[in-house]
Amino acid sequence: MSEHKTTTFSSKIGLIMAAAGSAVGLGNIWKFPYIAGENGGGAFLIVYLICVALFGLPLIMTEFLIGKRSGKSAYGAFQTLNGNKRWNWISWLCMLTAFLIMGFYFVVTGWCFSYLSEAVVHVFSGLDTEALSAHFVEVSSNMPRMVVFSIIPVVLTAAVLWFDVNKGIERLSKILMPLLLMMMLMMAGRVLMLDGSNIGMQFFFRFDFLKITPTVVMEAMGQCFFSLSIGMGALITYGAYMPKTQNVTATSIQVIVLDTMVALMAGVIVFPAVFAFGFNPAEGPQLVFVVLPAIFEQMSFSWFSSVLFFALLCIAALTSTISLMEVAVAFVSEASGGKLNRHKSVLIVSGVVVVLCVLCVLQPRLFDYFDEATACVLMPLGALSMSLFVGWALPKNGEKGVIHADKGIKRWFRKIYIFMLRWIVPAAIIVIFLNSLGLI
Ligand code: TRP
Repeated sequence: MSEHKTTTFSSKIGLIMAAAGSAVGLGNIWKFPYIAGENGGGAFLIVYLICVALFGLPLIMTEFLIGKRSGKSAYGAFQTLNGNKRWNWISWLCMLTAFLIMGFYFVVTGWCFSYLSEAVVHVFSGLDTEALSAHFVEVSSNMPRMVVFSIIPVVLTAAVLWFDVNKGIERLSKILMPLLLMMMLMMAGRVLMLDGSNIGMQFFFRFDFLKITPTVVMEAMGQCFFSLSIGMGALITYGAYMPKTQNVTATSIQVIVLDTMVALMAGVIVFPAVFAFGFNPAEGPQLVFVVLPAIFEQMSFSWFSSVLFFALLCIAALTSTISLMEVAVAFVSEASGGKLNRHKSVLIVSGVVVVLCVLCVLQPRLFDYFDEATACVLMPLGALSMSLFVGWALPKNGEKGVIHADKGIKRWFRKIYIFMLRWIVPAAIIVIFLNSLGLI
């Protein structure tokens, strides 16, 4: 009996860690600070938190439930649940989103690997603010180097999927994720002692209503989807592997809390340092890559801290790329009707991803375009379709379809969940979308 309990417990934790590993990644540490910096700091933060509260729970739950009920990945799930092919296009949308995200995500992961290798050989010691900014430009515009460094994480991710060592990675990330959190706490502690750090805290936490524009709201919604890994079907796969007894609501809340904590902590590290060192908060995608090395210079054991941090960042990025690539691999092998086995699918998907990465390295405008298009168009569209699918297309508002996949959902909460899914979530996505286009 007690043994049974521990095994169920550990696999539940395993699932939470895997889903958290997918959620916590460059979205929290690289993208959140730069998007918040470009969109007014505190104004962005408050809208972001509202988006997480509004969309996070219903949408994560929906993806988990679709997976748990159908036992399938994003490819077969919709057809299995609905009994006809009419909703299959959602799988195609998920797949397109996965490829475009991978196109730029691996490039940023490549920056992390490049910075890790440079941290090892002390490249950053003694560089001032301007030199660090110049250094990023130099590194990121070195095409051959960037192509090689983007291919490294593609190969590593493909190897994990090829040898099916996901479980091992999960176990590893049970140790490494808390280590990353501890490391970030220490960095926050150091940064907050810097002269002028309070200006950064004000920038990040002071909420100025006038700074909220339709763009800020759109960017916050996109960042919320991206950071929580929703709207692309990635979590459907996790739902399919969920132990029957796992409580979907509790798991979703745990993932949301963890992901949001990491993003907040990244803000508390980056913004005080930005102001203390005289960087520009609206620096763009390079923000953390110029600010972080400057922070390590101020820390004791600076070599050790920077190497450890960039190593942990690379691993956090890899646990996210694994979940992204998994969606595409499962899709390709299932869509081929079994003609392509897993190994062949891994090869095809990595080949396509390498091409996309090279394009993104050669053409930075494409990089920006993939980043924007996925967060602001494709993921909201994916989330909208999934909420309409469960809320409206499944029999009896999804009750027959998915909600009974989880016995743990209380009756009153089920009502709220379905109400959110049928009305609030779709309406909010559509309103934010039209508003950002200037149509309302
Ligand atoms: N959420 C991850 C991050 O914050 C990125 C990511 C991984 C993702 N898997 C995903 C985003 C699936 C959308 C869908 O870095």
